[in-house]
Amino acid sequence: MASSASATAAAESNAETAQKNYKIVQDAGDFAETEAQRPAFDQAKPIEVTQSPYPQWKYGEGVPDNGASLAQKHHEIDPYHPDRPMINNYRLLVSGIAPRPVGFLSTINNQGRKNLSPFSYFQVIDHDPPMFIVGFSSRPGRVKDTYRNLKETGECVINTVSENMIEAVNASSIDAPYGVSEWDVSGLHEAPSTTVKPSRVAESVFNIEGKVVDIKEFTDHQQPGMSLAATVLIKATRFWVKEGTADPEYSHIDLEKLRPVGQLGGISYGRVVSTFERPRTKWSQEVPKSDLLVKLDAEKPGHQ
Ligand SMILES: Cc1cc2nc3c(=O)[nH]c(=O)nc-3n(C[C@H](O)[C@H](O)[C@H](O)COP(=O)(O)O)c2cc1C
Repeated sequence: MASSASATAAAESNAETAQKNYKIVQDAGDFAETEAQRPAFDQAKPIEVTQSPYPQWKYGEGVPDNGASLAQKHHEIDPYHPDRPMINNYRLLVSGIAPRPVGFLSTINNQGRKNLSPFSYFQVIDHDPPMFIVGFSSRPGRVKDTYRNLKETGECVINTVSENMIEAVNASSIDAPYGVSEWDVSGLHEAPSTTVKPSRVAESVFNIEGKVVDIKEFTDHQQPGMSLAATVLIKATRFWVKEGTADPEYSHIDLEKLRPVGQLGGISYGRVVSTFERPRTKWSQEVPKSDLLVKLDAEKPGHQ
């Protein structure tokens, strides 16, 4: 009994120390004052379609900028070096791997308590079967409620995040006590799901009901006082697309209607206001158009 009490006290003290050293949530200073100096968000901004950066690009050309993109050398970093603070890896990764889509996850626990939180260590990773991945970061103390719920019940709804939802979505990332529903914090609305218990977000253009198929916990990386980091693989069980946002076959969502928000570095988000296209190519059709491809084709292994 005594040893279990002292273990709990040690765990609490470790969590307290870990909390003191944990600086992931950036202090934005007087953000209201900073934002007041900026231009208003243009809700009606159309999405412009332009040419690609180098429309005349030829096979083998790399980046046709006269070597400008090769001028600087790279600096090598060991992410695990004892002198490298974890926060530097966090800042580097969220600013360098950007924009990231935001998966807005609705889950419930075994008692039916609801949770809603955003995750940008998130991606669709296949369509056949439709598969998604979500990464849960280590933090001082307990694991994230969403992760706990996914482990307990194996169910979720992944909701897309459009520009008009971002304040509500960002607010739902607050570290609410376990069991407090971010549905109430955000003011977003619930819609019923069919194949899983958690609700869908009615405001989202696209909802994906899904079930957990695998979890990888990084036990070997866990630090004293910090929760376990984990990655969860989710398989879709049902799609819901808002009417009027897609083609008649529900095979393509209109970007003008989706208006996706991407997470960038720091506390920045980005919007899509300009796009360009590049056709996908086939070797057999492209070889006759390019001397380089003719040469590579002639040199391929087994070619006589
Ligand atoms: C846009 C956005 C993206 C986020 N992405 C992640 C993420 O990928 N992984 C993560 O562990 N936390 C992420 N967070 C932080 C979580 O949302 C936050 O820790 C939240 O409180 C977790 O809620 P929960 O404990 O109710 O699951 C993100 C926050 C925001 C605002």
